Amino acid sequence: MYQRALYLAPAIAAALLAACGGSSPTAENSSSTTQRVLQGGAQGAATTLAAVTVQAAPTATAAAAPPPPVVLAPVPNDEGASLTFSSVGAVDTANPFFKPFGNGRSCATCHQPDNGWSIGPDKLAARFTASGGTDPVFRLVDGATSPLAATATLDQKRAAYSMLLTKGLIRVGLPMPTGAEFSLVKTEDPYNYASAKELSLFRRPLPTTNLKFASSVMWDSRETASDAASALCLKDVRPAQCFASVDASLLRQSNSAVRGHAEAAQDLTAAEQRAIVDFEKTLFTTQISSIDAGSLTDAGALGGPTRLAANAFYFGINDLESGDYQTGAPFNRNVMAMFGAWRNLDRPLPPPPPVRGRPAPPPPAPSAQNLARAAIARGEQIFNNKPFNISGVAGFNDELRRPLQRGSCASCHDTPNSGTHSVVRMFNTGVSAGARRTPDMPLYTLRNNTSGETVTTTDPGAAMQTGKWKDIGRVKVPSLRGIESRSPYFHDGSVHTIEDIVTFYDKRFNIGYTAQEAADLAAFLKVL
Ligand code: HEC
Ligand code: HEC
Repeated sequence: MYQRALYLAPAIAAALLAACGGSSPTAENSSSTTQRVLQGGAQGAATTLAAVTVQAAPTATAAAAPPPPVVLAPVPNDEGASLTFSSVGAVDTANPFFKPFGNGRSCATCHQPDNGWSIGPDKLAARFTASGGTDPVFRLVDGATSPLAATATLDQKRAAYSMLLTKGLIRVGLPMPTGAEFSLVKTEDPYNYASAKELSLFRRPLPTTNLKFASSVMWDSRETASDAASALCLKDVRPAQCFASVDASLLRQSNSAVRGHAEAAQDLTAAEQRAIVDFEKTLFTTQISSIDAGSLTDAGALGGPTRLAANAFYFGINDLESGDYQTGAPFNRNVMAMFGAWRNLDRPLPPPPPVRGRPAPPPPAPSAQNLARAAIARGEQIFNNKPFNISGVAGFNDELRRPLQRGSCASCHDTPNSGTHSVVRMFNTGVSAGARRTPDMPLYTLRNNTSGETVTTTDPGAAMQTGKWKDIGRVKVPSLRGIESRSPYFHDGSVHTIEDIVTFYDKRFNIGYTAQEAADLAAFLKVL
């Protein structure tokens, strides 16, 4: 069995590489990819390869046959390893998700299985070097700082693709909405391209995994269509706001991606759209092990992708504002409930009884692993329960009908064990505020046509769709699972570490975490 696994591995690696748009794999880099993608974590390797063997057709004509389904192995990262679980048992690399369209890009070009189904600077730098900047991710249309950037020499290419190479950012070009309540009065684009005709908005590829828990599609929700006939409506909101199903939105999105990112001349067939979306919905990705805390499913813990897949989701589950849309239960702020069994593992055991009158030796101190586990459990409690004042958040303080100012991380990240927001609502937590702008980002000054007020932003977010002043800077609440495997964070990749996310929120909402609380919260976020 082991031999067969070894035989198949290079073929699978080649299939994945081709699918991800890699340059022609040499024997050398295909074996390193084999290791990276398929053998990731030492513990997982044996079972994974065994499973691949079961799935694959072990014939001598394997080269001509469609690539075999792949059971993905754990992928190592700084904190341990992440794992993608497929609800159908294996990842079908023959799915059109992996098929190159138009300019040679496939979905996997920007949604890589070994990068949390997104992309990041480290692996992009390797792809740049290996391909001399010709890997299909490096395309002028939206990979570059400007579609007009010079790319004749390697140095020019490196400059043109600097946003990908430093932050994994894709340029989303969107026109100023017609009839908007605001006008563009100033554009500061370091790359001299953006204008009202097309703003350059640099955004991170959202992961194409854990989509079971999505209530809207894209950062600005632009692929989430309104649908007056749908039953997916915000509760008690008049006039009614009802939305197409996420499934319908994803179908449409897949075609937009092929026409846009991949510059395909033709639409996907309905069958291809269906196949891509069905495929996406089988994927669940989370951290599976931690260097310090060990297996995230040990000792009663409920981490890992298989558990995640078993969580229920529907529009309005555990809604912050109206309570659960189906059960009517009030909002439960214990949104994250995976590591409760690890609480108190830092407590010393009770001392043994005295023996023949002599005092017993002191109990052994808790192990380093148990201390790490207890920190994660404390971090989960902080996420759910540490209260702070949520103020100045467009979409939250102005639109929710009940005063909910006092909240926690769970207020916005309200979907159980996933952390999305379970209805279509977008919030402006200030990530794209002009004050946070770094010199590599274009900056836009917008003026309210009625009040004359101005605001600076690097990304107007939902307002690019609605044209509404109040929607400027609002984006959707992303899932938090598997974040360790896909830095940098936020829609603009402005935060590179999980510690810095905690710092961002601490400052933004004046939370006042102690050093211990900040460390515990970070420890928890790293094992999601
Ligand atoms: C050139 C890179 C690139 C390619 C190729 C690409 N995507 Fe994306 N994808 C992105 C970016 C960037 C975003 C976020 C854009 C935004 O929100 O404005 C995104 C967002 C998404 C989302 C939204 C997820 C969510 O939580 O809302 C889905 C689904 C998705 N892509 C699927 C696909 C599919 C399917 C394909 C292939 C047909 C594809 N992508 C090809 C870059 C890419
Ligand atoms: C007011 C609503 C709100 C609150 C409160 C909130 N978040 Fe968020 N969170 C968001 C939104 C919206 C985003 C996306 C922001 C962006 O990318 O611009 C986000 C993004 C994130 C991300 C980045 C995910 C990614 O894929 O890039 C993490 C991690 C996160 N939040 C953790 C937390 C933690 C921890 C807390 C509590 C300290 C918290 N959030 C409180 C709304 C909120």
